[in-house]
Amino acid sequence: MMKQKIDLWEQAGKFLAPLDGGILLTAKAGGRVNPMTIAWGTLGIEWGVPVFIAFVRTGRFTHGLLEQNPEFTVSAPWGEFDKSILTLCGTKSGRDMDKVAACGLTLVEPEVISVPAIRELPLTLECRVIYRQLQDPGAITPENLERFYPQGVGSEAPGRNRDYHTAFYGQVVAAYLAG
Ligand SMILES: Cc1cc2nc3c(=O)[nH]c(=O)nc-3n(C[C@H](O)[C@H](O)[C@H](O)COP(=O)(O)O)c2cc1C
Repeated sequence: MMKQKIDLWEQAGKFLAPLDGGILLTAKAGGRVNPMTIAWGTLGIEWGVPVFIAFVRTGRFTHGLLEQNPEFTVSAPWGEFDKSILTLCGTKSGRDMDKVAACGLTLVEPEVISVPAIRELPLTLECRVIYRQLQDPGAITPENLERFYPQGVGSEAPGRNRDYHTAFYGQVVAAYLAG
């Protein structure tokens, strides 16, 4: 499978611009590869290295996978793609189904980490978690607490619910277009 290396900073906008509609974060552990849709993320520098920071609610299946294997890929589109992938991966849990099979995704062998890239959303970052932090409810504004963390909504809800987010800081160790 051909991979074309990309310059992370030249292409940074290609990861950030589509975030609003969703891109994929994929984790892998215990023999399971599981993509989930994310709309929150930042790309920048800390400790002198490029990092993609993803915000994953503690109750997501993905959260457990990241605790077992602290690596993930970020997959953004390059041109046209099937948007139903983002709907399914953002509303169904890997606890209940194999989303890779359900979406007919083609996994691409990674370069550095153990989590694969996805050919259907080929713009790829391979990330190794170097820091994580549960967001402190006491430091969140009352408006955002009320809006994003409804305490009456259980963890299993795919959208907003009672669970806070963990910020997973992934050092970007490879960046490419997976062909
Ligand atoms: C457009 C969109 C963006 C989303 N962004 C996030 C996000 O940034 N963080 C998060 O924890 N969940 C987010 N979700 C919800 C998860 O994708 C959803 O709960 C998913 O089913 C979790 O999958 P999992 O249980 O297999 O990990 C988003 C959903 C959609 C549709």
